[in-house]
Amino acid sequence: MSDNKVILSDGAAGTKLELPVIRGTEGDPTLDIKNLHKETGYFTYDPGFAQTASCSSAITFIDGGKGILRYRGYPIEQLSESSSFLEVAYLLINGELPNADEMQEFDHDITYHTMVHEKLNTFMTGFHYDAHPMAMAAGAIGSMAAFYHDRLDPEDPKQRELAAKRMIAKMPTIAASCYRHHRGWPTAYPKNSLNYTERFLDMMFSVPAEPYEVNPVAAKALDLLFILHADHEQNASTSTVRLVGSTGANPYACIAAGIAALWGPAHGGANESVLNMLDEIGSVKNIPKYVDKAKDRDDPFRLMGFGHRVYRNYDPRASIIRKACHEVLAELNVTDPLLDLAMELEQVALKDEFFVERKLYPNVDFYSGIIYKALGIPTSMFTVMFAIARTVGWVAQWLEQSENPTRIGRPRQVYTGPVARDYIPLDKR
Ligand code: CMC
Repeated sequence: MSDNKVILSDGAAGTKLELPVIRGTEGDPTLDIKNLHKETGYFTYDPGFAQTASCSSAITFIDGGKGILRYRGYPIEQLSESSSFLEVAYLLINGELPNADEMQEFDHDITYHTMVHEKLNTFMTGFHYDAHPMAMAAGAIGSMAAFYHDRLDPEDPKQRELAAKRMIAKMPTIAASCYRHHRGWPTAYPKNSLNYTERFLDMMFSVPAEPYEVNPVAAKALDLLFILHADHEQNASTSTVRLVGSTGANPYACIAAGIAALWGPAHGGANESVLNMLDEIGSVKNIPKYVDKAKDRDDPFRLMGFGHRVYRNYDPRASIIRKACHEVLAELNVTDPLLDLAMELEQVALKDEFFVERKLYPNVDFYSGIIYKALGIPTSMFTVMFAIARTVGWVAQWLEQSENPTRIGRPRQVYTGPVARDYIPLDKR
């Protein structure tokens, strides 16, 4: 990072301040305001942190204007074409692609941590059968701090590594459990002979009464979706993980907080909302009505799966998923009228001045649900699928932060409440 300066001048006070400029390896220059309050008495106001870099990170790069996404420098298009989810996990965590021995060791370590403590399975049975799987996933991951409390110290590199591997390995086991509990199916245990994605599909769909063969088309499609969702720099859930991590909280608490943040419909919960929205629209003839609703400032309806804080261009992940959607549905011999509906909706929105002006394009969640649905994954599990993949990003970001701990995350506020006043006893009010 090299720096030069920007001069900030305060007309009223007649003072000037030199703010250093931080430049990363790519991306826009950033003003360093660390000393702003000390030197001027001012804070900055940035609701939603839309203009604020909360950390420096070497993991993921996005150029929202150009629609670029890279993990550790590698374009998402190349990784999704040629890599596997587990290899991407290694890359995100370690910074480099593994050689054959490193990959084998990593795969082995993840594979042999996939079982969860049996009491965690008992814990899952305490949830009501119709609990939302995201509620169960957040609860179960948070509870891991109670099951694996011997290795929670974020300051110990060995404990960090073990927690990271446990999290990535056990997340699919827990996710499948959430689904099975809802179905009333017995617990499925991980099969070490399968790869990461196949093992998850087997835990989701196998039942004791029938043989189950993982469909390679389904496993490949899911692996692709996992790669695309693995990390996305300082989004709301990742920032949550880092904020919780900055307090020194244990890794399971950090990831549970990330899952909770992901659940919101403006974030990862959008994939579930997209399918519900497409179901509600129901037919191509209703599209204009819903597009009008999305444009109406007095109507809270938004086109789910559209728009992004950072991308002011087509989300590169959406382009890949859109193409995969056609291929996967064709290979699985599935026809889904929702795909035609989604494509038509996209076309109408992309030609509409409201969406053009605001640079609103389909995001990663617009088409992902159609693939999940074709794989037999129920809508309520969509955000859990996102969470399985994003666990890798959260873990990588948490490890990066833990290696170079920063100050506790603690934003300021513009106070708009009452000024000081005296307490009035109850009988005098
Ligand atoms: N439908 C209709 N209008 C929209 C939409 C939408 N999906 N998204 C943004 N707008 C409008 C918004 O009302 C605002 O209009 P105006 O300038 O008249 O006030 C303008 O576009 C700018 O939007 P914003 O709300 O300031 O943008 P933001 O950066 O704060 O929000 C977002 C980003 C993703 C939360 C938002 O676009 C949205 O709610 N999209 C739908 C939910 C969704 O698909 N979320 C998934 C995001 S990608 C997966 C992930 O990483 O989580």
